[in-house]
Amino acid sequence: MSEIVTLSGHRGLALEEPLLFEVGEPGRTGVDLPEPPPFDRDRLGGCARRAPVGLPCLSEPQAVRHYTRLSQKNYGIDSGFYPLGSCTMKHNPRLSEKMARLPGFADIHPLQPPQTAQGALAAIEALADWLKGLTGMPAVAMSPAAGAHGEWCGLMAIRACLEDRGQARRRVLVPDSAHGTNPASAAMCGYGVESIPANADGRVDLDRLKAALGSDVACLMLTNPNTCGLFERDIVEIARLVHEAGAFFYCDGANFNAIVGRVRIADLGIDAMHINLHKTFSTPHGGGGPGAGPTVLSAELAPYAPLPFVVRDETGLRLVEHAAEAARLGAKPFGRIKGFHGQFGVFVRALAYIMSMGSDGLHQASADAVLNANYLLARLSADLSASFPGPCMHECLFDDRFLKDTGVTTLDFAKALIDEGFHPMTMYFPLVVHGALLMEPTETESRETLDQFIAVIQGLAAKARAGQAEDFRQAPRFTPRRRLDETLAARNPVLRWR
Ligand SMILES: Cc1ncc(COP(=O)(O)O)c(C=O)c1O
Repeated sequence: MSEIVTLSGHRGLALEEPLLFEVGEPGRTGVDLPEPPPFDRDRLGGCARRAPVGLPCLSEPQAVRHYTRLSQKNYGIDSGFYPLGSCTMKHNPRLSEKMARLPGFADIHPLQPPQTAQGALAAIEALADWLKGLTGMPAVAMSPAAGAHGEWCGLMAIRACLEDRGQARRRVLVPDSAHGTNPASAAMCGYGVESIPANADGRVDLDRLKAALGSDVACLMLTNPNTCGLFERDIVEIARLVHEAGAFFYCDGANFNAIVGRVRIADLGIDAMHINLHKTFSTPHGGGGPGAGPTVLSAELAPYAPLPFVVRDETGLRLVEHAAEAARLGAKPFGRIKGFHGQFGVFVRALAYIMSMGSDGLHQASADAVLNANYLLARLSADLSASFPGPCMHECLFDDRFLKDTGVTTLDFAKALIDEGFHPMTMYFPLVVHGALLMEPTETESRETLDQFIAVIQGLAAKARAGQAEDFRQAPRFTPRRRLDETLAARNPVLRWR
C-alpha cells in the first residue's frame, strides 16, 4: 500500500499539533486587561525587562484546543487495552482519585506541624499496616518513590545491617530474567552484580545459584512471580540456601498483584521486598519517580529503615525525622532517601483501593489477573509460540519462533498492532527468550476486550504467515508519526524551542 499523503499531515481527526510558539501571533490575546499605568523604570534598579519575554500570544480557544489535543495524544489505560507485560497498566479507580482529591488530603503541606496533619499520618499508618498484613512482614519503609527506589532502599538496609555485623560482602546475585532496575540498584549500592541463568523451565537454575553463593554474597535479588510470568516454585529452598550462605534474600515484589491475598511472602523466607503500588494497588503508573515503592523488611532489617518514619505515642502520631531521635527508639536508619515522607497522594489512592476491595476483593483480583493471563496464553498458543508451558501467573510470555522465515520481526508485529487500535505488548523483554512478546491483561479487562485483542493477534499472525512482511514493515500507517528513531530521540532530545 502506498503512503497516504495529506497536505496538513492530519489523519482522520488525529490532528497535527504544533507548539504554542509556532501558532502564536504577537499581540493576540485571550484576555482584555486594562493598560497598566505608566511607572518609573528607575524603581527597578536597572532590572527592567529590555525586550519582550517571547511568550506565545494566543486566543483562548487556541490555547484550550492545544491542551485538549495534547491530552488526547496520550494513549492511556482510559483510552483502551494496554497489555504491557511487566509494566502493568492497571485501571485507576475513580473512587481512589476522588479520595486523593479530598481537600483534607490534597491541600496539606509536608512542612505542616504533625499535630495539624494527624489524619494524613493515620492514613500512612493504615496503609503501612495493610502492607505488613498482606505480606506478613513486621516493618515497612514508606518513603521510596518508585519500585526501583524501593529496591535501592532494601539494598541499603541490607548493606547497613551487614556493615553492622562487620561483614564486607561485595556481590549481589541477580537472575537473568530480572528487571533492569535490579542490577542497576545493586550497582548504585556499590555492589558487584553476578547474573544467575534461568533453566529451561524459565526459573532460577538452582545448581548455578548454589555454585554462585559464597561468603562474599550480600544478597540474592529474585523477582517472584518472575518476569517470565512464572512462580519460582523452589523459592523456599532458594531462601534456605541463601540464608545458609549468610546472605539476605531480597524479593522484587513488583509482581505482587499475582499473589496478593494468597501468599504471605514472610512465609517464603524473604527478608526485604518492595511493592510497586501502581502495579498492585491501582495507583497511576509512576514508573521511575512520581509513584511509590514501599519496602517491607524483616525484623532484622527493620531498624535500618530510612528516615523519616511514623510513630504513635501518647501525643498522637508523629514523624521521627532525625537519627538521634531514631537511636533513642533503638533504630539505626541508613539515612534519608526522599525530601519528605513519601508520595502521599499515591498512598491515599492505594489505601482507598485496598479498603474498597477488602481482603476478599484483593484475593479475587489476583485470581482474576491470573485467569485473564491464562486465557490469553491458552487462546494464543496455537498462533504464537509460547515460551514456557502454562499455566502462567499474571502475564504470559511468547517468543518470535512463530515469525521464523516470515521476514516479520517482533517490532514489526507490535507496530502493526497500533494500526489495529491496540497498544503493543512489552517487546524484547525479558531477555531470556528471543524476540519476547510479554502480555499482561490485568484483572479488570472484560472477556469481550480480550476476545477482540485475541482476534486481532490471530489475524496478524495469519498475515505474517501469508508472506505480507512488507505491510508489517510499513506499520504503523495511521498514527500522526510513523516509525520514530527511538535511539536518536533518546540520545539527542530536542528540549528547547528556538
Ligand atoms: C519486575 C519489576 N521490577 C522493578 C520495576 C521498577 O519499578 P518502577 O518503574 O516503579 O521503578 C518494575 C517496573 O514495572 C518491574 O516490572
